[in-house]
Amino acid sequence: AAAHRLVIVRHGESAWNQENRFCGWFDADLSEKGVEEAKRGALAIRDAGLKFDVCYTSVLKRAVKTLWTIMEGTDQMWLPVIRTWRLNERHYGGLTGLNKAETAEKHGEEQVKIWRRSFDIPPPPMEKDHPYNKVISESLKDTIARALPFWNDVIAPEIKSGKNVIIAAHGNSLRGIVKHLEGMSDAAIMELNLPTGIPIVYELDANLKPIKPMAFLGDEETVKKAMEAVAAQGKAKK
Ligand code: 3PG
Repeated sequence: AAAHRLVIVRHGESAWNQENRFCGWFDADLSEKGVEEAKRGALAIRDAGLKFDVCYTSVLKRAVKTLWTIMEGTDQMWLPVIRTWRLNERHYGGLTGLNKAETAEKHGEEQVKIWRRSFDIPPPPMEKDHPYNKVISESLKDTIARALPFWNDVIAPEIKSGKNVIIAAHGNSLRGIVKHLEGMSDAAIMELNLPTGIPIVYELDANLKPIKPMAFLGDEETVKKAMEAVAAQGKAKK
């Protein structure tokens, strides 16, 4: 039997997901569809009867608002919320703001897949005159390196002490946590695309190893389509 349970959820669709632009640390809001996705996610959590003791999220409003929507929709508005930049989306560097399909037309789909999904290859750095100038860019490896200390020092001890935890975060900060939890290889993580707004439940043993594959709180066909759609964002239009 599982010793612990963990719920993770990627924020609902953002305005920049909708426009298919690399977002990273840009603080895009939820789109209308994203708000609906978050509400649906909340209902799924409510219907599954899941209660929490503490919530973790990033300092980006698409994740914070997704969490608020879940807290409201499950009538748990009182819960403590801890926000940290360590759970932020990976920083997309010089790709920030660019359209993903146009970038695939320009640099090729393979290159875009490497930038989006590879373990240790960061996007190109931001130029000084880049409109979103913060001169950093992060690979998944870099993202894991700054997310894992928070997981190890703060979240894991809370789970081990018996608390029910929900994490509302981002495609790549959550891919990092999933890679760590499941001990996935650098090649395997390349193929994982997390859908927006669909909660994921992990049953964990006492050492926080998953005893079963991640379980989505959504019907199989919807989840499959949503994951394929995320992968397809990096395809050229023609
Ligand atoms: C972004 O930052 O653009 C998205 O939230 C995640 O992007 P990706 O699916 O292209 O890694």
